[in-house]
Order: sequence, then structure tokens, then C-alpha cells
Amino acid sequence: MPDTRTPSLLAGQVVVVTGAGQGIGAGIARSLGLFGASVVVASLTESRALETAAALTARGISAIGVRHDVTNSASCDALAAAAVDAFGAVDLLVNNAGTSGRSPLDEMDESTWESMIDVNLTGVQRTTRPFVAQMKERRHGSIVSISSVAGRAGKANMSHYCATKFGVIGFSQALALELAPFNVRVNCVCPGIVRTRLWEIELEEISLARNVTIEEAWNIALESIPMRRPQTPEDIGAAVAFLASPLARNITGQSLNVDGGYEMS
Ligand SMILES: NC(=O)c1ccc[n+]([C@@H]2O[C@H](COP(=O)([O-])OP(=O)(O)OC[C@H]3O[C@@H](n4cnc5c(N)ncnc54)[C@H](O)[C@@H]3O)[C@@H](O)[C@H]2O)c1
Repeated sequence: MPDTRTPSLLAGQVVVVTGAGQGIGAGIARSLGLFGASVVVASLTESRALETAAALTARGISAIGVRHDVTNSASCDALAAAAVDAFGAVDLLVNNAGTSGRSPLDEMDESTWESMIDVNLTGVQRTTRPFVAQMKERRHGSIVSISSVAGRAGKANMSHYCATKFGVIGFSQALALELAPFNVRVNCVCPGIVRTRLWEIELEEISLARNVTIEEAWNIALESIPMRRPQTPEDIGAAVAFLASPLARNITGQSLNVDGGYEMS
């Protein structure tokens, strides 16, 4: 990808990215940092948070790492407090942490359903809550949550995942209306297919279900993308950077698909 860095786009902004120790979250953190933001790298694993932050610092980006579990309210409060302690205030929260899986509904345990809702949907609400108070008070801020193309149209054997990703869009639209009077914007980005750990797990499941190799399963997945190429963490980071930037000052309550044309609604 050509180097399209514009360090001034997010200059002076403080951003918090959840699930940023790997995959899409790490890509978003890197992209936002290269666009000029100071970054709080939140990760379930402390070592990954610190390593990712150190890698950003090595590239000249101001960054800290904080351990954060979206299933724990105290951890979400502590994340917001750590960000304010380090940088004074937060301009952008990116809710990226999430999990996935496939199972026909009649074979799905109640605990699998509940855990998906707890991480992907309640986790977004839990993490967002302590940031909303400070953004309302400052009458400034932006929240971007990572939904999915599975939040735009249903996918077989993913009823739990789709329920959460549709839910994140509904949550964001409601919050966009609630926070518009406070000059706080709320949007979603819906990635298509990014080959992260999450997709490697899905590829194993597809390969078993269809009796094909992992690479054959990957090629089958790519055939569903009109532009015939996968998305990268940096593609998702670029969309988040746009939505966080002053260029998007009149955009709220929207969901932007970054998927090579896979979903058009
Ligand atoms: N990879 C794709 O193609 C794709 C497509 C659409 C949407 N997404 C979404 O993008 C986001 C990132 O996924 P990814 O592909 O990078 O997968 P990934 O598995 O590499 O990353 C998921 C991240 O979420 C974190 N996480 C999980 N449970 C957590 C918890 N309880 N508390 C805090 N963090 C937790 C993990 O530690 C990890 O860092 C997810 O919300 C996912 O649903 C991914």
C-alpha cells in the first residue's frame, strides 16, 4: 500500500483502541498514530498492550499500553482513568475488541451465546460508558465501534455473532442521537474479510465443514468479494481515521463498510 500518511489529520487527538494488541486493533492503533494521534493501546493481555505501545513509540508515536477486559466494568473505568491520567482527555474511543465463532443454533450452548453477547455487545456498552461522561462534559469527542459485514446481513451458523454486530450498529445509532446535542459523534466501521487470528479460526471451521484445505477455504472466501482482494488492518484504520477526523465533522450515526463491495447496505 502506498504511504499515504498525513500526520496532521489527527494531530493533538488522544485515541483509545480496545483489542489493540493484535489484528485489526493493532492496525487501527498504528494507522491513527501515523495520522498524528497519541494512542492508548488497550489489550486483554498486558504484555501485548505494552509491546504494541513500545512498537508505536519506536516509530515516533506517543503511546501507552493498558490491560483491559471488556467483560469487567472496573477494568473499563480503569482504562478511561488511565487514558486521562496519561494524556489529559480522550478525543476518540475505538471499540474494536471482539470474538467470533460458528455454530448452528440448535448445537449452540447457552454459555457460548452469552459469552458472545457479553464480549461483543455488552463489552462495547461497558467500555463506552465511562468515556461518554467525559466527552459530554467537554462537549467534544467521537466513538467508532467495529461492527462487521455480519452486522449488515445475516450469516448462517453465526446467529450469535450477527446478533452482536447488528446490535453494535443499533447501539451506535441510538447513542449518536443521544450525544449529538453534546457535539459527540458515534459511528461504526464494518470490515469485510481481514486475515487475522479471528479469520484463521473461521478458516479452520470452513475447511473442516467443506472438507477443503485452509488455503482453498481462503480462496472460497475471497471469491465472495467483488474486488477480489482481502481487506487489511490498515484499510480499517484509514476508515476510522477519516471518521475521527474533522473531515467527518457532520457524520454521525453511520456505518461504513470496508469490504471491497461485499455488502452494499
Ligand atoms: N477479521 C475480520 O475479517 C473481521 C471482519 C469483521 C469484523 N471484525 C471485527 O474486528 C474486531 C477485531 O477482530 P480481529 O479480526 O482483529 O480479531 P483478533 O482475534 O485478532 O482480535 C480480537 C481482539 O479482541 C480482544 N478481546 C477478545 N476478548 C476480549 C475481552 N474480553 N476484553 C478485551 N479484549 C478482548 C482479543 O484479545 C484481540 O486482541 C472484532 O470486533 C471483530 O468482530 C473482524
